[in-house]
Amino acid sequence: MRKNIVAGNWKMNLTLPEAKDLVEGIKNQLSNNTDGGTEVILIPPFPFLTEIKNQVVDSAISVGAQNCSMYKSGAYTGEVAANMLASVNTDYALVGHSERREYFNEINQVLAEKVNRLLENNIKVIYCCGESLEERKEDKHFNVVETQVELGLFHLSADEVKNVVVAYEPVWAIGTGETASPEQAQEMHAHIRRVLAAYYGDDVAEEISILYGGSVKPANAQELFQQTDIDGGLIGGASLKAEDFVSIINAF
Ligand code: PGA
Repeated sequence: MRKNIVAGNWKMNLTLPEAKDLVEGIKNQLSNNTDGGTEVILIPPFPFLTEIKNQVVDSAISVGAQNCSMYKSGAYTGEVAANMLASVNTDYALVGHSERREYFNEINQVLAEKVNRLLENNIKVIYCCGESLEERKEDKHFNVVETQVELGLFHLSADEVKNVVVAYEPVWAIGTGETASPEQAQEMHAHIRRVLAAYYGDDVAEEISILYGGSVKPANAQELFQQTDIDGGLIGGASLKAEDFVSIINAF
């Protein structure tokens, strides 16, 4: 059966001392109160990966990167390669977060290369997809998300795609305080699973965790996570507070 996952995407926030305090807080609160059934992933900025990994090494918490280069190595100033991430024991990496797609012009074909670099280095992928408000208003949301999933992932074999987690994040719900209703989210998650099943077969599609992201908070996590095809959350703002993040983890 597929895993339940709660991942905290810190984005470009926190200094190292603040980050370490946050992790300490999360570890303390989790140890009081966890049934261990949900995988927890922390996704700090690059410079903190090693330190945070060391901090969680005695726990079940995994660590992820927010991005990686499409290139293997060489003269690409400012880029971070997948084998570098692997060498500091990074477990996961985000690919195609809407902020990368929008502000850094990352297109699906580039994202497909990033997926390859990560899987070559045994790093699991959290592949993000989601439509803009305009696309939803024009009733294009199912097509947009389907295309993102196809172009980013469908070059993978069934065995490879099992190392991918999909995160559905409607752009209009990210950092806006506006959440997709549980019904809207479930509808899209079921659609994504159907798209995966049509290509890879039901058994593979049933194994892939699909996370929801976009203004998830303690108050709405439970009703989102209760939906059949929602296997957890990718949390931005609320992952910066230990108490909120842990209460989202405990919402399963
Ligand atoms: P948010 O961000 O929870 O602050 O809306 C989610 C994300 O962008 O991953």
